Amino acid sequence: HRHLLGIEGLKASDILGLLDLAEEAVTVSRQVEKKRSVLRGRTQINLFFEASTRTQSSFEIAGKRLGADVMNMAVSSSSIKKGETLLDTAATLNAMRPDLIVVRHHAAGAVHLLARKVDCSVINAGDGEHEHPTQALLDALTIRRNKGRIEGLVVAICGDVLHSRVARSNILLLQTLGARVRVVAPSTLLPAGIDRFGVEVHRNMREGLKDADIVMMLRLQRERMKGAFVPSVKEYFRYFGLDAEKLSWAKSDALVMHPGPMNRGVEIDSEVADSAQSLIREQVEMGVAVRMAVLEALARHLPNG
Ligand code: CP
Repeated sequence: HRHLLGIEGLKASDILGLLDLAEEAVTVSRQVEKKRSVLRGRTQINLFFEASTRTQSSFEIAGKRLGADVMNMAVSSSSIKKGETLLDTAATLNAMRPDLIVVRHHAAGAVHLLARKVDCSVINAGDGEHEHPTQALLDALTIRRNKGRIEGLVVAICGDVLHSRVARSNILLLQTLGARVRVVAPSTLLPAGIDRFGVEVHRNMREGLKDADIVMMLRLQRERMKGAFVPSVKEYFRYFGLDAEKLSWAKSDALVMHPGPMNRGVEIDSEVADSAQSLIREQVEMGVAVRMAVLEALARHLPNG
C-alpha cells in the first residue's frame, strides 16, 4: 500500500504485520537511544485542520524517532485562513516534495481526495466522521498486549457512535481480527444502518457490558451535534457514563479504554479512568509505536525505499 487512508481495504495479514512492526517500535521507544534511520533524508508534513493533542504529537515524535525531517503545518496561521482551498494547499505542499503527508480534516473523504492530488504517501489522521485508522491500530496493539489476543474477545464500544470515526475504524479492524464487537448507545447516537456492520447493538449499558472483555468509551462529540439532539450531560452520565458500578457489569477482568480527549464526568468517571483497569495511558504510548510502524511500512513503498 502507498497510503494509509482507512482500515477498510486492509486484510488481517496487513494489520497483523503493522502490529508486529509496532511491537518492535515499543522496544525502540523504551531504550535510552531511540533514534533510527529508516526515514533519514525523508520529509514528513503534518497537516492538521482539526485540533489534536495525541495524534499530531505522536506522529511528530514517531517521524523524528525514525530520522525524518518533520514539519508541522500551522493551519491557523496559514493561507487556508485567507480562503486557499484544500486542493490548492495540497498542490502547494506537494511542490515542496515531501515524502509523507499526515492529514486530519473535518470532512469525511477529504483525505482520500488529497491523496489523489499528491505524489507522496498520505496517512489519514482522522477525517470527519469517517475513519481514524491509526487509532484503531493503537487500540488493537494495546488490547493484544494486555489480553494476549484479539480473536474471540467481546469488545463493547460505548457512547457517541454516531459521530465517531474511532468507532468505525475499530469496528472494521476488530471484526477483521475476529473479535465480537458490540455498540452500546442511546438510539439518538447510533448511525442509521449500524446493523449493516454486523455488530450487536445495545441501547442500555447493563446489557451491553455483560461478559465484555474490553469496554471502550467514546467522547461525546458535542461540536458535531449541529443543532440536533444534544443530551444533557447529567442525564447522559447517569445512563451511559462509565462508573465503577456499570463497569462491574462487565467481566471481572475487563479493561477500560478511551481514545482521548476524555470528558471526565460525561462519558467516564475519574475513578474508572484512573483505575488499575484503565489502559488509557498505555494507549497513548502505543500511539507512538503504531505511528512509527505505519511510517516505516509506507517508507518501504517510497521511491528508493
Ligand atoms: N485520540 C485522538 O485522536 O486524540 P487527538 O484528537 O488529541 O489527536
